[in-house]
Amino acid sequence: MTTSRTKTKKKGKAAGSKPTASENGWLTAKKCDRFDLYEKAVQEPESEVDLVEQIWKEQRDRRCLSIREDFCGSACVCMEWVKRRRDHGAVGVDLDPAVLKWAQDRIPQRLTREQQGRVELVQADVLTVETEPVDSVLAMNFSYYLFTTRDKLRGYFARVRDALVDDGLFLLDAYGGSDSFLEMEEERDLDGFTYVWDQHSYDPITGAASNFIHFRFPDGSKIERAFEYHWRLWTLPEIREVLAEAGFRTSIVYWEGTDEETEEGDGEWTVSEKGEACPGWVAYIVGLK
Ligand SMILES: C[S@@+](CC[C@H](N)C(=O)[O-])C[C@H]1O[C@@H](n2cnc3c(N)ncnc32)[C@H](O)[C@@H]1O
Repeated sequence: MTTSRTKTKKKGKAAGSKPTASENGWLTAKKCDRFDLYEKAVQEPESEVDLVEQIWKEQRDRRCLSIREDFCGSACVCMEWVKRRRDHGAVGVDLDPAVLKWAQDRIPQRLTREQQGRVELVQADVLTVETEPVDSVLAMNFSYYLFTTRDKLRGYFARVRDALVDDGLFLLDAYGGSDSFLEMEEERDLDGFTYVWDQHSYDPITGAASNFIHFRFPDGSKIERAFEYHWRLWTLPEIREVLAEAGFRTSIVYWEGTDEETEEGDGEWTVSEKGEACPGWVAYIVGLK
């Protein structure tokens, strides 16, 4: 099974072909906004919310009503969450005022007045933020890999545990596979631009990985290093051990099925005790309080 490390949207032409003209004609670096390109290339809020609902259905005998989206960036999961059902509420937490302003400016176009009343964005550090107890905390797109020591990661997980209600679930994703340890670039042609995932450096002694996202356009213009991440490449057993050390009663892994025709991930997630040694995978971990 091969699964993109960036949970790619399955849209646009296959890698290797030319990008198509977008609805707005040919895009250029000057015309584009990096947060907008990021959302188009990387995020899949509908699938993420589907998965939260699936996990709650399978692990608890009630629905999840409130989420906190840590490292929320453009907060598109918060917005999808409150759109999904009238009794849903969401809090998004991010350190960066620029991305929160970008998100806040889009809320009036994306949500009704009633939905707007059920979402709150907070500028804060996830290590120190104080929020009302929630049913689920989400830490997606591997953002918590920025905690590069076991102590820091345990400290964050313990804060998350404290932020949950008694039967709360912590949902986080992880990536790995043999390709994740390589220094390589992966390109995908999308609607008017090319998305590049650049695994720029990896140090096997420290586990430090520096990854960049670049955007390139048909006229040759570029936004190089639009986003950069300096992470530690954590493995699933390490993450589960640290969850246990932080006080989570147990943790489970949702592994993706394989499409028999393409041999790629099929978007179906099931609880698994055993994975596959494939070149690239994404998995979801659930920490049960
Ligand atoms: C990889 S992006 C994730 C965006 C989004 N959650 C997603 O799924 O694509 C990481 C985000 O984490 C934020 N961030 C980094 N350190 C943080 C911290 N200590 N507390 C809160 N947010 C932080 C950054 O500002 C950035 O918006």
